[in-house]
Amino acid sequence: MANTSGFFTPSVPSLRRKIQPPIGISRSGFCFSEGSCRRVVCSSGIEGAEKHVSPSESRVPKLVSKGCKLVGCGSAVPTLSVSNDDLARIVDTSDEWISVRTGIRNRRVISGKDSLRNLAVEAARKALEMADVDPNDLDLILMCTSTPEDLFGGAPQVQRDLGCTKTPLAYDITAACSGFVLGLVSAACHIRGGGFRNVLVIGADGLSRFVDWSDRGTCILFGDAAGALLVQACDAEEDGLLSFDLHSDGEGGRHLSASIKDNETDDLLSSNGSLLDFPPKRSSYSCIQMNGKEVFRFAVRCVPQSIESALEKAGLTASSIDWLLLHQANQRIIDAVATRLEVPQEQVISNLANYGNTSAASIPLALDEAVRSGKVKPGHTIATAGFGAGLTWGSAIIRWG
Ligand code: ACO
Repeated sequence: MANTSGFFTPSVPSLRRKIQPPIGISRSGFCFSEGSCRRVVCSSGIEGAEKHVSPSESRVPKLVSKGCKLVGCGSAVPTLSVSNDDLARIVDTSDEWISVRTGIRNRRVISGKDSLRNLAVEAARKALEMADVDPNDLDLILMCTSTPEDLFGGAPQVQRDLGCTKTPLAYDITAACSGFVLGLVSAACHIRGGGFRNVLVIGADGLSRFVDWSDRGTCILFGDAAGALLVQACDAEEDGLLSFDLHSDGEGGRHLSASIKDNETDDLLSSNGSLLDFPPKRSSYSCIQMNGKEVFRFAVRCVPQSIESALEKAGLTASSIDWLLLHQANQRIIDAVATRLEVPQEQVISNLANYGNTSAASIPLALDEAVRSGKVKPGHTIATAGFGAGLTWGSAIIRWG
């Protein structure tokens, strides 16, 4: 049965129901029978994996709950701060142009010993500390990033650095600036449908590594950061994800991309005429290419629609929310969406001026600052939305604490 937020909610017992022993394998990985969720056993024979708790021995998933609440947040930014004036020394721009057109004044950039992984781990530790959850009580880590420091993803390295020897699973989600909203919804799906209890959602991006620092149209916009949110299983009445609305449109992807490109290499084997197409060319990613005007139009058109749709599913109106928290891309986009939804400026969370567009990190970074400064209090309702490359966009109506 689908509930208002669009989730499938199996008929399940309360959180404290006694754990059933695992049973045999089903295609879906889980078998729901009346009043119980029974777990499928899978195991890994890979060398080095044995020190970790296998899914068959772990806590996950034992129980299915119907709610998930947001109980901890954290964030981390690199030490190097780059101001608009700094940028005006390398491209033809000015503090005035950048701040008037975007609202951005500073951004943080990964340099020296900083790494995206370290930022993600620092943000995660802070979120765990606020939630008072031990790393080994995590059931899942979702790392939302488009810029992992390994082609194959970064979540398992974060899992290792956090010392999560009993956490069965960590994986990446790639959806650019919408990544965090998608991660949050995915966490809720794992909790509601899979019986997970503690899911850590990390939004972390280092887009500065993919910026053309000679292109004044894009290099002024982006910064690096990480933010994290601990999502925890709870009873239905405490549910903190009230509804969501998610979209993608590959047609519009051409307006914002960092595509793979073949590098020129000598084709060593072609000289003897035997293997003309071998070896294949080495590839890397090009710098961010963006049609700013089109992305701007897309954002101010689609984001309010998505939030209105999510609000409707939650049975709320824009006037009943406490905060509007959008992906921090451009202050003019934030203002346009707030105006369209008739949300007053004092209820709009924005820290864009200090950090620029930090992609998947921007929402948890702004949320963390708002929570720690006492702006966002337990019980407050927040309409949040991400949008960006893909194109992807989506919103979620959440309740803090
Ligand atoms: N400094 C000075 N002048 C500049 C700069 C600059 N940094 N950048 C562009 N200009 C010039 C242009 O060359 C142009 O000059 P011209 O009129 O002589 O040709 C003029 O300013 C206007 O340029 P536009 O590109 O039309 O400026 P616009 O008002 O559209 O602002 C901006 C550009 C800030 C990029 C805006 O379009 C924007 O923010 N778009 C949305 C981007 C976004 O939100 N991306 C989010 C997704 S990110 C993700 O998913 C990874």
